[in-house]
Amino acid sequence: MSFSWARPYEPKHPVARWIDERLPLPRLVYGAIGGGYPVPRNLNYWWNFGVLAGIFLTIQIVTGIVLAMHYYASVDGAFTSVNQLIMRDVSAGWLLRYAHMNGASFFFIVTYIHIFRGLYYGSYKAPRELVWMLGLVIYLLMMATAFMGYVLPWGQMSYWGAQVITGFFSAFPMIGEPLRIWILGGYAPDQAALTRFFSLHYLLPFVIAAVVILHIWALHIPGSSNPTGVDVKDERDTLPFHPFYTAKDGWFAAAFLLVYALLTYFAPNYLGHPDNYIPANPLATPAHIVPEWYFWPFYAILRSCTFNLFWIDAKLWGVLAMFGSILLLFFLPWIDRSPVRSGSYRPVFKRFFWLLVVDIVILGYVGGAPITPFNAALGQIAAAYYFVHFLIILPLVSAFETPLPLPNSISESVLHGETAEAAPVGQAPRPGSVATATAE
Ligand code: HEM
Repeated sequence: MSFSWARPYEPKHPVARWIDERLPLPRLVYGAIGGGYPVPRNLNYWWNFGVLAGIFLTIQIVTGIVLAMHYYASVDGAFTSVNQLIMRDVSAGWLLRYAHMNGASFFFIVTYIHIFRGLYYGSYKAPRELVWMLGLVIYLLMMATAFMGYVLPWGQMSYWGAQVITGFFSAFPMIGEPLRIWILGGYAPDQAALTRFFSLHYLLPFVIAAVVILHIWALHIPGSSNPTGVDVKDERDTLPFHPFYTAKDGWFAAAFLLVYALLTYFAPNYLGHPDNYIPANPLATPAHIVPEWYFWPFYAILRSCTFNLFWIDAKLWGVLAMFGSILLLFFLPWIDRSPVRSGSYRPVFKRFFWLLVVDIVILGYVGGAPITPFNAALGQIAAAYYFVHFLIILPLVSAFETPLPLPNSISESVLHGETAEAAPVGQAPRPGSVATATAE
């Protein structure tokens, strides 16, 4: 499809032209995120979170590289290097550390919103299945990176978190224990584990960045979906990415980063655990070992398997359920067979979507709370519902639901019946038109 507003990239400056003829990188960027890239004109604010995820990935890489310049990856020096050297002696070291700590939490917040946007608007459906699956690969890599990063300060939660999480592997019969010892480089977390976790924690964000490039590349083949889920029909349905979405993404990112700055400056330890300010002690197990908040729903699923079934024991069921809860998302494009993408036109799907959100919030609460009989039962119900949602409810809803009528085109849905010609790309609607009346 060609777009009359899309001007080909023409470098004006002789130096830019010289570079472009030899390495057409600026041309590539212009086509990907500049004035040459067509985007549906009706994207709402939920579409801002992909760019925000990219911003937080960048913040993590930049702050992480500088932190690594002052960090000692040794079991004797790690805790002091973080809590004394970086926090007190390095200029603005406290800011770097708090920005990195809270940056991890915010990276997960924006990524979770980005994922739920995809779940609600059916962004995982054809032709964007690979965009979705590459996103899940990014998410798994993020989890591995965050887990290893949490070990680095070598506090009590670092140590015992590493014990518990690497302990998952020993649930597998035969290969489990040798695998765990191989991963740790010993029988318990120690120097070998700390050194390799530091090395991988430094490496993985760059692997994530590489997968993000594939993610965006795969997205740019069909282009972004939109809140109606209706395909772009002609150029009236689109706007150039720049300046329209650079402006919208830009101001929203500034507002969102303000919230991040508020937490980083005024409540930097709010999302952390106080026990991680106690140096790691292999002889003193904390009363209540919890991972970081963004793992809580999965931790709840893990702990909800408390009984042996068939020839598999409870611990292995827990590990299988936890990994299964993420792996099943790879099959979502084929589990949900409805031809309608957007949840806004799927009345039954929409209700179950919100029920799933509540279910995951409950799982999150249970994962972070101490185990009591009530919490354990609540966790089991919520974990069972999670699987029922994806494996039973979603296939049934997609087979039997009657969707609402879809708009004929994106521009029709935007202009509320006004003809799309009334508001050509990049210009204000005609005075007195329906679009102007709505804006007023
Ligand atoms: C570092 C992490 C990530 C970055 C930087 C990133 C970046 C982006 C960007 C810039 C877009 C286009 C703008 C938008 O639609 O918001 C996008 C779209 C998309 N992303 Fe991600 N993403 C990340 C993680 C994920 C994850 C974890 C998933 C899902 C599991 C995912 C699934 C998708 C899907 C399905 C789309 C297409 C949305 C549509 O057009 O409807 N992404 N991503």
